Amino acid sequence: MKRLNLVVLASGGGTNLQAIIDNIEAGKLSARIRAVISNNSKSGALERARKHNIPAIHLSHKQFATPEDFDQKLLSILKEKETDMVVLAGYMKMLSPRVIREYKNKIINIHPALLPSFGGKGMYGLHVHEAVIGAGVKVTGVTVHIVDEVYDHGPILYQKCVPVSSDDTPESLQKKVLPHEHEVYSKVIQLFAEGKIEIKDNRAFIKE
Ligand code: GRF
Repeated sequence: MKRLNLVVLASGGGTNLQAIIDNIEAGKLSARIRAVISNNSKSGALERARKHNIPAIHLSHKQFATPEDFDQKLLSILKEKETDMVVLAGYMKMLSPRVIREYKNKIINIHPALLPSFGGKGMYGLHVHEAVIGAGVKVTGVTVHIVDEVYDHGPILYQKCVPVSSDDTPESLQKKVLPHEHEVYSKVIQLFAEGKIEIKDNRAFIKE
């Protein structure tokens, strides 16, 4: 089976990155992480990468004169790493249309709710779970989707439900959803490695 070359983009603590690393090391995921890129030099994600001898690259718009220069550098890294798939794992920056076009249907993101609800600009971290509690919905979950030019919008690849209890708080819900993210993200990447994902007319299907 093909071993996918992954490049992971992450801004924060990197627990989703860690789950992917662990699943690769356990032989459950047919992939290798060619690099971890972060806009945040102090991110836990870069630290986790270094611990596992994965190239850890700090790449921020602040290092470049123009957004185009940033894109050029990002694209050259992706090319050099022979990237099959770009994995966003808590990456807080929007990718440019150029990058999205060049890696069409090859950039994926995980969102801690059931899209298209509770997504979009500003819907990250605890804000998502606050909105879920505020709406009084009884089910939340995890969504993995292809990244397009709109926040939290591209074809949905996979969803998993997580029940909301009456005593849940945004914090408890975040804690409850996170382990499901860890499970689901590797599962979807493995489906890609197995060639089981098909994207047609803006909808994604899992081939049996
Ligand atoms: C996760 O909740 C993910 O769904 C969202 O950002 C968070 C990242 O967490 N996109 P971590 O850095 O992987 O711990």
